[in-house]
Amino acid sequence: MPDAKRTPQQQIDALRETLRHHEYLYYGLDAPEVSDAQYDAWIRELQALEAAHPELVTPDSPTQRVGGKPKEGFAKVAHSRPMLSLDNAYNEDELREWVRRVQELAGTDTMEYACELKLDGLSLALTYEHGRLVRGVTRGDGAVGEDVTSNVRTIRSVPLSIAPQKVRAAHWPASFEVRGEVVMPLAAFQRLNEEREAQGLAPAANPRNAAAGTLRTLEPNIVAQRRLDFYAYFALDADGYIFPRQSEALDALAAAGFRVNPERRVVHGVEEILAFIARAEGLRETLPYEIDGVVVKVDSRELQQRLGFTGRAPRWAIAYKFAARSAVTQVQGIAVQVGRTGKVTPVAELAPVPIGGTTVSRATLHNADEIARLGLEIGDFVVVERGGDVIPKVSSVLKDRRPADAKPFVFPDTCPVCGSPLLREEGEADWRCVNVDCPARLRESLLFFASRKVMNIEGLGDAVVQQLTDRGMVRGLADIYALDEAALLSLERIGEKTARSLLEEIERSRQAPLERVILGLGIRFVGERTAQLLAQALGSMDALMQATPEELERVEEVGPRIAAAIREYFAVPANRELVEKLRAAGLQFTAVRRQQSSRLAGKTFVLTGTLPTMTRDEAKERIEREGGKVAGSVSKKTSYVVAGDDAGSKLDKARSLGVTVLDEAGLLALLDEAK
Ligand code: IVH
Repeated sequence: MPDAKRTPQQQIDALRETLRHHEYLYYGLDAPEVSDAQYDAWIRELQALEAAHPELVTPDSPTQRVGGKPKEGFAKVAHSRPMLSLDNAYNEDELREWVRRVQELAGTDTMEYACELKLDGLSLALTYEHGRLVRGVTRGDGAVGEDVTSNVRTIRSVPLSIAPQKVRAAHWPASFEVRGEVVMPLAAFQRLNEEREAQGLAPAANPRNAAAGTLRTLEPNIVAQRRLDFYAYFALDADGYIFPRQSEALDALAAAGFRVNPERRVVHGVEEILAFIARAEGLRETLPYEIDGVVVKVDSRELQQRLGFTGRAPRWAIAYKFAARSAVTQVQGIAVQVGRTGKVTPVAELAPVPIGGTTVSRATLHNADEIARLGLEIGDFVVVERGGDVIPKVSSVLKDRRPADAKPFVFPDTCPVCGSPLLREEGEADWRCVNVDCPARLRESLLFFASRKVMNIEGLGDAVVQQLTDRGMVRGLADIYALDEAALLSLERIGEKTARSLLEEIERSRQAPLERVILGLGIRFVGERTAQLLAQALGSMDALMQATPEELERVEEVGPRIAAAIREYFAVPANRELVEKLRAAGLQFTAVRRQQSSRLAGKTFVLTGTLPTMTRDEAKERIEREGGKVAGSVSKKTSYVVAGDDAGSKLDKARSLGVTVLDEAGLLALLDEAK
């Protein structure tokens, strides 16, 4: 916002204040309000002003330091050397200019570049002493980060120790630091948001925020479930980078057992860099995690040293940022949708706008609180973001562009579909239509029931479901099992072939396992994983229906809230009727035994500590598959204690009782023998 009326000093002051505010939101609160591209544009504006007026540069300018202040909560730790940021290039010209400058400064035009994907996560420094992980520290403000070791240890791609033979290679010292990026894979992100939604919480904005929030969670168990991932890209010791080339460092890290992104390449010259970028842009849609660009590093450390650093970034590297997947558009209206649980979701109807190759005309607003938080009115111009598989969302409102005729949105007090009053339970963000016969709820329930992750009935989509419910041919989930060819042929746009294949799909779904049937009922808080755990632990629909809250809570990951929701569900006569109709339709009401062999029958295991590669759940599952049992505490009857890192009192007890103690390798050997 250069402004002819303001002095350079005033312009600089205003920009610094804006930047500091947004840095605080981004680094301090994990709640950014503007895109990285906007932030970078302001930084560059400030850099340009400061370059034109060097006398106005101060040491505390955002251009002169790395980031914002770290949050309270975890112990603060100074980094062995600053964790810097990268300068950005937003197009081919800027990239060519960087290459030209680098070659000029290095005095050669025949150099090699290491190209890597720019993962959209947060950077982390891991310290290893004598081959063991001793500390994991977030970037924080670049100089001081937060000690999140207990959480980092739960990330399975972070090795807890490095086998000596892997690092015996010439360059590895006894103690070293590995830096890289923590990301939340898209699948884990989706699962997290499904869970949050089921719990009536606002979904996380994007995988990066979710990863950052997770890493700062005070409960390592929860962190472990979220399945974060770590990709290594630097290896350092007290003297700096260990390996003479970046590409060598990546290979050595991979050989030492770190996850290193396989999409990497050493290239020569700008044309090859551009080819790598083009390939990466193509990959972007297919990768299981988000990337926001490509990082290009001068491969040789010697040249890197010659090039050195500017205030906040190395001269020898650049981040080529992909075009932002966000756009500004106008909100033309706000519609409300009723979901299968009766939850009412406001949706912004947008002036259609292209974002990253698709036209977006609707974006979720989550709930009434979110509309209030955004301060959104109908007619406002908004920033809309789209990431990975995530539904587009309104991320901020441009209040200074608010038109004079903008209108505040009044949340309806009755269901837009059936007209019943909406209710909001104390402490919950969502309004709900509680009419179990609401046609919108039935439609959504059917679509959910038929969806891929539930009964997987291909062909039972929007158009068919709409007709079946409008015509009263289906009044409840179980009615689909009574459909015949004649009924389907009476629908519009359904020919014999389609009708027959839909009937086959419905027929096949009768064989879907119990866990899917439980999931398909749409019990609040019972998502994919909970349904699976319930089916495995209880073994049948009848056991689930009859289970007391105490019995339910004995199932892994089921707490009082989920137990209460299950009891409430089966207390409703209409729901019990539905279950009986599904039983009559021949659906699977008993679980398939998971046990595949009984070689470990009669053996009781106790798991303690963190195993190097398996989670506890995995270890438990594999033991049970061979017929073994997993118990919570050690007694004389325990056959084996499987101890990982940080095993505590259970290990001591095992030793005092003379119980055989296995490490992960020992357990794996036992499982193999059992095969
Ligand atoms: S190098 C001084 N390599 O991008 C060098 N960073 O915009 C800084 N990032 O803070 C890091 N993938 O969090 C590097 N392959 C990669 C990266 C990467 C993602 C992140 C990192 C950094 C930010 C800079």
